[in-house]
Amino acid sequence: MAEHATDLLEVDGISLSFSGVKALDGVTFSVREGEVFAVIGPNGAGKSSLFNCISGVYRPQAGSVRFGGDELIGLKPHRVARKGIARTFQNVEVFPAMTVQENLLLARDGFMKAGPLSCMVRIGRSAREEREAVVAVQRYAEMLRIDHLLSAPVGSLPHGTQKRIELARALAMEPRLILLDEPVAGMNHDETSEMGEAIRTVNREVGVAILLVEHDMTMVMGISDRVCALDFGQRIALGTPAEVARDALVVNAYLGGAL
Ligand SMILES: Nc1ncnc2c1ncn2[C@@H]1O[C@H](COP(=O)(O)OP(=O)(O)OP(=O)(O)O)[C@@H](O)[C@H]1O
Ligand SMILES: [Mg+2]
Repeated sequence: MAEHATDLLEVDGISLSFSGVKALDGVTFSVREGEVFAVIGPNGAGKSSLFNCISGVYRPQAGSVRFGGDELIGLKPHRVARKGIARTFQNVEVFPAMTVQENLLLARDGFMKAGPLSCMVRIGRSAREEREAVVAVQRYAEMLRIDHLLSAPVGSLPHGTQKRIELARALAMEPRLILLDEPVAGMNHDETSEMGEAIRTVNREVGVAILLVEHDMTMVMGISDRVCALDFGQRIALGTPAEVARDALVVNAYLGGAL
């Protein structure tokens, strides 16, 4: 039974150990339909492990992850993606020699979801489907302010722009939830605020829920509806950004750190 009527993703009592090291220790939280939800915590807190459990890269030893009521544990990453969860990676992962438009069209085709075999789908696509795909890609590119770059090879563009392309590509998969792994890592101040704005725009205009892991506290506090803090694999706080920022356990975990 969902904790909340509009819970989309329910992470329930997830535990994961690596030869004695408890990366995650009974972590529970839910992401609601359409919200921006952030996971924070010091280095080694378990944030990446958590993402990898949700996206099917790791299989936790205990607990469950339900998405729209369906159990995800045991599904391979491409099956999780097909359920409607898109993700971006800590390092930019795009096809650098291809244009922005080609990268986005591939995502739309389900290439990212089902692997290279689905390229076959593309060959069989009708002219009408082709036009629809181009229109959809144009819309997402405008939303992320990369529409003037559609014919540019991705590899020629600055890091901050490539990260927005990755987000556009996740969006082109038309998911219900996007997982963002440190979306502003390595960005300068202007790129960071542009990305923060882009995440909010995507969330508002498409209504897609966003789950992000991020070290940049100003950015997390500025764009998130709710925040969950982890330390040593355990959830130490959950609430609004203001509640979490003043939580004694969180302040203590970050003492001398980013908060
Ligand atoms: N593949 C692995 N093999 C062994 N130990 C691992 C592995 N992945 C993570 N760990 C351990 O699990 C714990 C949690 O790591 P995790 O990478 O999830 O933390 P994190 O919160 O993402 O940290 P960071 O902010 O540095 O990215 C750490 O103690 C880490 O050393
Ligand atoms: Mg990490």
